[in-house]
Amino acid sequence: MADRIQVLIVDDIPETRDHLTKLLGFEPDIAVAGTASSGAEAIEQASRLLPDIILMDINMPDMDGIAATERLSARVPTAAVVMMSVQGEADYLRRSMLAGAREFLVKPFSSDELTASIRQVYSREKEKAGRAVVSQGPRAPEAPQNGLIVAVFSPKGGVGRTTIAVNLAVAAASELGKKVTLVDGSFQFGDVAVLLNLNAKDKSMAELVPELEAGRDPETVDTFMVNHSSGIRVLLAPPSPEMAELITPAGVKHVLEILRQHSEVVVVDCAAWFNDTMLGVLDLADVVLTVLTLEITSIKNIRLFLEVAEQLGYSHKIRLVLNRADTTLGIRVADVEHSIGRKVDHTIVSDGRAVVYALNRGVPFVLSNRESQVSQDVFRLAASIVGNGDTHEEDGRKPPQKGKSLFAWR
Ligand SMILES: Nc1ncnc2c1ncn2[C@@H]1O[C@H](COP(=O)(O)OP(=O)(O)OP(=O)(O)O)[C@@H](O)[C@H]1O
Ligand SMILES: [Mg+2]
Repeated sequence: MADRIQVLIVDDIPETRDHLTKLLGFEPDIAVAGTASSGAEAIEQASRLLPDIILMDINMPDMDGIAATERLSARVPTAAVVMMSVQGEADYLRRSMLAGAREFLVKPFSSDELTASIRQVYSREKEKAGRAVVSQGPRAPEAPQNGLIVAVFSPKGGVGRTTIAVNLAVAAASELGKKVTLVDGSFQFGDVAVLLNLNAKDKSMAELVPELEAGRDPETVDTFMVNHSSGIRVLLAPPSPEMAELITPAGVKHVLEILRQHSEVVVVDCAAWFNDTMLGVLDLADVVLTVLTLEITSIKNIRLFLEVAEQLGYSHKIRLVLNRADTTLGIRVADVEHSIGRKVDHTIVSDGRAVVYALNRGVPFVLSNRESQVSQDVFRLAASIVGNGDTHEEDGRKPPQKGKSLFAWR
């Protein structure tokens, strides 16, 4: 039936192909369009059958799954690849994603995991295609966007700011289709490049600010941005701490003002202290995601921060994010809320396995492990802060809205 999800199975082991064919045969909305036993055959079959989804084994003798995926993304761009691999081939995950795979399944997987992945990838691709159709046609020159600036801040280090900033930015782009810029605002010891496995020479805030101060055209910002395969643009922190001195508070504000004109969302991973530069970022931000954990030092600092924030007039834009919310170390969320006199707005679970695995591979977990609870929590956070649905996790309040139209280009 034409309205079923058409799947091409690619694996060099005949038993695996048969097994997968049988598993999918039970699903009323999925049809196996064909099978292939090698990368070359996969390309040939996919060009002919135009499947929606290609289940691709990563290890095959002639052309491996990664090389085949790379070629397929040019030859049959409408087919979405779901890569299959055995545990221990972790480096392949990053390479698969870079090659264009949409999902990664670790063998052995259950039939539920398999069919859920196929359905999710399929509906995501359909959604994307719908958006592409809507946005086709003659485009006026890009109008300034006045994007939302989301500062991810905490008055204490090591609580998960970078983890949240990176995954939030990628989720806003990959799940919500937003035009996202991520800025590493930890100018001395920025970690964003590591989490995204990015490496760029002479492209950082420290190189950009002096250029703008020398009177260069605002368009020059573009040449300092690094593109990530998820579709987000990144402005990295300087490669060495002493270069942070080149970054002035006025310079950062200028950069953020320019970036927001070209993005729907600008996420800034802030440093864990107050100085003029950080205050400049918080000043400009529309939303300050303030991250805390269930540790007494974190809670004490949050209380102090909230007092300062009130004096500075930031209270209305603060959203409290409790990271590693399920860690049970004797402090309950209700106690924290009582102690700081405010409700937690969003929670993110602790998942050392998914988070550290993603960190060490340089692939955000919202891409490599989107089924995990921690990814789902980030998706909810993204939808609440930058989505159009205006959902609010805890109490139905809406996130702060700017008076201007944020998404005018849609
Ligand atoms: N939800 C989570 N579950 C498990 N581990 C987490 C989670 N969030 C963060 N971590 C881990 O906690 C550590 C600190 O996270 P991260 O680097 O994002 O924090 P940070 O606030 O940016 O720290 P820094 O002050 O060094 O900039 C990392 O090892 C990270 O993998
Ligand atoms: Mg950090």
